Amino acid sequence: MTSYERVLRFALSKGIVFPSCEIYGEAPAGFWEYGPLGVRLRNRFIEAWRRELVRRDEMIEIDGSQIMTKRVFLASGHLESFADPITKCRGCGSIFRADKLIEEKTNISVPERLSDSEISMMLEDRGIRCTNCNGELSEVTRFNMMFKVSVGPSGDEAYLRPETCQSIFVDFLRIYKTTTNKLPLALCQIGKSFRNEISPRQSILRQREFYQAEIEVFFNPKKADEFDKFEQYKDYALMLQPLNEDKAVKVTPSEAVASGLISNRLIAYYLVLIQRFYERLGINRESVRLRQLDSEERAFYARESWDLEVKTSLGWLELVACNNRGDYDLTRHMEVSGQDLSVVDDGERIVPHVFELSMGVDRSLYLLLEHLYLTDSKRTILRLPYHLAPIQVAVFPLVDKGELTKLAERIYNDLKVDFDSFYDSRESIGRRYRKMDELGTPFCVTVDHQSLEDGTVTVRDRDTMSQIRVPASELKQRIQRLLEESWGRACDRGLGES
Ligand code: GLY
Repeated sequence: MTSYERVLRFALSKGIVFPSCEIYGEAPAGFWEYGPLGVRLRNRFIEAWRRELVRRDEMIEIDGSQIMTKRVFLASGHLESFADPITKCRGCGSIFRADKLIEEKTNISVPERLSDSEISMMLEDRGIRCTNCNGELSEVTRFNMMFKVSVGPSGDEAYLRPETCQSIFVDFLRIYKTTTNKLPLALCQIGKSFRNEISPRQSILRQREFYQAEIEVFFNPKKADEFDKFEQYKDYALMLQPLNEDKAVKVTPSEAVASGLISNRLIAYYLVLIQRFYERLGINRESVRLRQLDSEERAFYARESWDLEVKTSLGWLELVACNNRGDYDLTRHMEVSGQDLSVVDDGERIVPHVFELSMGVDRSLYLLLEHLYLTDSKRTILRLPYHLAPIQVAVFPLVDKGELTKLAERIYNDLKVDFDSFYDSRESIGRRYRKMDELGTPFCVTVDHQSLEDGTVTVRDRDTMSQIRVPASELKQRIQRLLEESWGRACDRGLGES
């Protein structure tokens, strides 16, 4: 069994994630649900994003509509450019993404800029045929990956957003005016995006409906090197893989900016923030890289791009697209809407530039499961940092009997309001501990005979398996403190290290 299969089996068997509408055989692929533990894990991850990036860096979060009017995507370029080349088998009707099919069959990468007829020619020249029935393939056409919807009885044309950031661009001026009124300004949003992928695959890794957490930093390009926050991280060890290199090397932000590898201090600072975020989730620095993309790999709106990737059993997995979008978005929205979105900075009227950190949330959760679902000679443990665990505390009576059960239930009812808690009285205590280890639960509270005499309970630590006795009346504060300490340990990771 591969690591991917092992993680998926675990996630399915515990109801962490599973396919949407699974009781209906015809349900389309690419849609997945989060079950009870998955929702909690996702919420914890989002809380880490809010705590370590949004609040720490004083970003401003918004929540925009998922359905947006057609002209937004005319302006953004998605109507014209967010399309993949496809070819259809004239025999069995199977549809393929043409560039990927060529890459799969020949190992030659197909540049994004090739026209449909050039890709058709490549298919023909190399004699590529349908992989299902060996039939002849059609001319290449484009398939736009946005989901079109019609709004209201008049059927106005609108689209489900293919990236959350468009509302940030459209709303920029109102938020700027109603908040800080100055640059740089980091706006962010977490929510669903929708892409009608031609071949969704690998469960939550390539879906048609997925969570993005996007940060868009608006800045004055003339002042991107006058950025005080840079100083605190100027010696950090960024894991950069420049163009034409086959592996990442440690480069400090100071060196990277001085040599021109990263275009300015503001961008270098935000690359540190995002690398450090994953290190704080428990991912080793050596498993992380920021890979520079060339013009053929970059999205159509980007002029400088770094993909944050993490090593997995499936290869390097892209988790965050870090794009210097220049003034592309605001300029285009100004042209199409006719509204002036410029601001005055330092006495000069400018259209702000944007640097973005666009994170795939579902993929990040997969990554955590793959890196941290571990088995040693004795136990299987989901070694999440304690503050990311879906169940924070479990409560057990040592044996399911009379007063022990009553007291354990009372303690559970008290804790469940403040923590994601779990109560279990079945099976042996050892088996109950093992079950919680596998779900990553950091603390198990057990009510035993001594508890009835002196009001104390045991608290077992997931990683050390050691137990301390704590008065039941102090449990809430203790657990709160232990979770805070876990955040603290995460903060020590990747802080000031070089
Ligand atoms: N906003 C960038 C992306 O969705 O990839």
